[in-house]
Amino acid sequence: SLEVVRMYVFFDASSWTVEVPSSVSGLQGSCIMIPCSFNYPEPDEKPSKLTGIWFKDTHDTIYHPDSSSIIKDYRGRTELVGDLRQKNCSLRIDPLHRSDKGPFTFRIEMEDHDKYSYIHDTVSIAVNSPDPPSLSVREEVKVGEEVSISCSVSHSCPSDSPLLTWSHSGTSSVQSQQLTNGQWKVTSSLTFTPSSTDHNQSLVCTAEYRGGKTVKMSKTLNVKCKWTTLVLGSACTSDISMVTCLCIVDSEPPSTVEWSLPDGPLPTLPSTRVERHGSVTMVTLQRALGFSETVHCHAHNTQGNATLSFTLSTNGKVNSGGSVS
Ligand SMILES: *[C@@H]1O[C@H](CO)[C@@H](O)[C@H](O)[C@H]1NC(C)=O
Ligand SMILES: *[C@@H]1O[C@H](CO)[C@@H](O)[C@H](O)[C@H]1NC(C)=O
Repeated sequence: SLEVVRMYVFFDASSWTVEVPSSVSGLQGSCIMIPCSFNYPEPDEKPSKLTGIWFKDTHDTIYHPDSSSIIKDYRGRTELVGDLRQKNCSLRIDPLHRSDKGPFTFRIEMEDHDKYSYIHDTVSIAVNSPDPPSLSVREEVKVGEEVSISCSVSHSCPSDSPLLTWSHSGTSSVQSQQLTNGQWKVTSSLTFTPSSTDHNQSLVCTAEYRGGKTVKMSKTLNVKCKWTTLVLGSACTSDISMVTCLCIVDSEPPSTVEWSLPDGPLPTLPSTRVERHGSVTMVTLQRALGFSETVHCHAHNTQGNATLSFTLSTNGKVNSGGSVS
């Protein structure tokens, strides 16, 4: 089986092959790195010198260690970032021009040995505008419960990762990940604790690329509030002829508050005054004194409802008890 291993190595290491993506996308003005690795039939003696060359179409040299052989348009913009001894022929173009479409071909020249152009595997470049970031946020977040939201963009220039910023304060962390085809993905995660004022506000993630180009993505926050119950204060006072009851409800979202008789539909008793201050709703009921009855203060919002009962007695004394659901 040693032979089998050797045969495998022989096949693998002994052909003129190159591995490049057929297309890499990049952003005009940014940089691009074309990932490239190559192979060649192993000569008996290690070549003393390897020269890596990249050209466009069939003859225009776009990279050569001797920069005078590079065509003018590419001079100073190309760099062989791969280590040829490691069979790495990765090429960096910086900055990328709109016309840098390719196709580009790698060529290896070994001193006193073979030279080879890998013309069957070329790479083209698609020069694109950046895509807007993708933003992941749950459909619904809750007041007071920490959430983590992530925003990511892909790019072609690992040395110049786009800067991701958030419209909301919080703790953010950034991660970078290499994808296939010369693309990287940078992700920023923002952790914060939403408050009720965040509801219906847009959360914006902005990606700024080198050169100042920015792309944004925003999402409206749907902050569900816990029913922050209920009757903060409720009291009835009476004078000679009237009893006045005040029901105060603090809830998010604000509640509708109505007075009713125990078995009646809502509202069976018109409120004399309704006041709203943010999440607090205050509703006043005035009744003529002189009979005994139970009235309900009924509060409801999208999250639930609550009822508080008052028993008004002829002597002006008031008892109350509540239930929340
Ligand atoms: C080739 O070199 C580049 C630049 O140094 C590096 O990012 C890449 O990981 C290398 N590829 C391999 C297959 O080692
Ligand atoms: C949310 O905001 C939009 C635009 O600012 C507004 O038109 C809408 O009425 C708001 N909705 C709620 C439920 O506050």
